[in-house]
Amino acid sequence: MSWNTFGRIFRFTTWGESHGPALGAVVDGCPPGLAIDESMIQPFLDARRPGQSKFTTQRQEPDQVRILSGVFEGKTTGTPISLMIENTDQRSKDYSEVAKAYRPGHADYTYDAKYGFRDYRGGGRSSARETAARVAAGGVARLAIPEVTILAYVSEIGGDAIDPANFDADQIRANPFFCPDAQAAKRWEKIVDDARKAGSSVGAVVECVATGVPAGWGAPIYAKLDSDLAAAMMTINATKGVEIGDGFAAARLTGEQNADPMYPGNEGPRFSANHAGGIAGGISTGQPVVVRVAFKPTSSILTPMPTITREGEATELFTKGRHDPCVGIRGVPVVEAMMALVLADHKLLHRGQTGR
Ligand SMILES: Cc1cc2nc3c(=O)[nH]c(=O)nc-3n(C[C@H](O)[C@H](O)[C@H](O)COP(=O)(O)O)c2cc1C
Repeated sequence: MSWNTFGRIFRFTTWGESHGPALGAVVDGCPPGLAIDESMIQPFLDARRPGQSKFTTQRQEPDQVRILSGVFEGKTTGTPISLMIENTDQRSKDYSEVAKAYRPGHADYTYDAKYGFRDYRGGGRSSARETAARVAAGGVARLAIPEVTILAYVSEIGGDAIDPANFDADQIRANPFFCPDAQAAKRWEKIVDDARKAGSSVGAVVECVATGVPAGWGAPIYAKLDSDLAAAMMTINATKGVEIGDGFAAARLTGEQNADPMYPGNEGPRFSANHAGGIAGGISTGQPVVVRVAFKPTSSILTPMPTITREGEATELFTKGRHDPCVGIRGVPVVEAMMALVLADHKLLHRGQTGR
């Protein structure tokens, strides 16, 4: 069974591999008449682009997006929008060892177990190059939800968290970590650089906040906004956990502590807290939608690790090639894209059922 499509009404399919000539996405179900051109999508790809600092992979990809279909006279036509990004900086020779043996923690063994054959160059389809395609699709999704503002940032690296008291949104694009706390960003330079120099890697937590989501998006039971968001985030490479609102911390609160008290307001209810992360009963409350995503440390590391060859022989493998010492950093634009894609889908689902 193959599964490369996400969404119900606002649907996208991604295609392509790390070392193929190009990769891309086909967005279907986009409302017609939205003003669009490449320059509205490119900034999100630029944020995800590799090789921008010594704290991310040194693979150099311009990640220029081209719109091939679904647009006429600068507007979406309602037909499939095909987006293409060329791969220009592949180095397949770096992967000769990975062809013979499995990287522990990567998808090499499981792809072989499933398909009996795999494109080992850069991890093939399991490479996070694929996330460039969804970031492009997310750029289109944002056009369908102009009422929503989405902001993601790294809140923790290598177990070192930001101090919420230092939160400054202007800092997020001012350092190489998408970090809203200038002091934490300084500390992370050493944490990530030490890991890189040691041939190791570190994990990270990415937090994403969507404001402007009106009350009512989402659906009960099997298409809850929170279950769709959790599924969307878990499709991102290297994610190992998703929390909505207070997430696991809510399990340690009392009912009084966890309540989001409501008061009459001028434009709908006013809430004095948001432990629920803007979602109750699978439906948005009108408060900011808050999601946190845990990224594991990069599995391709320079430290030799025990593994087996394709023939089942014991061996050791260290991964050459260019790898992110902390994949969560470049995960930030990807998390934002998945938030946009889920919200666009739910906006259209809500409109389809209620007419609003
Ligand atoms: C933006 C981004 C960049 C990544 N870069 C690398 C990398 O350079 N090296 C690596 O081994 N894994 C990298 N990964 C993670 C792998 O793609 C991922 O671990 C692998 O596909 C196995 O899937 P899983 O970790 O989701 O189980 C990256 C992930 C993201 C989100």
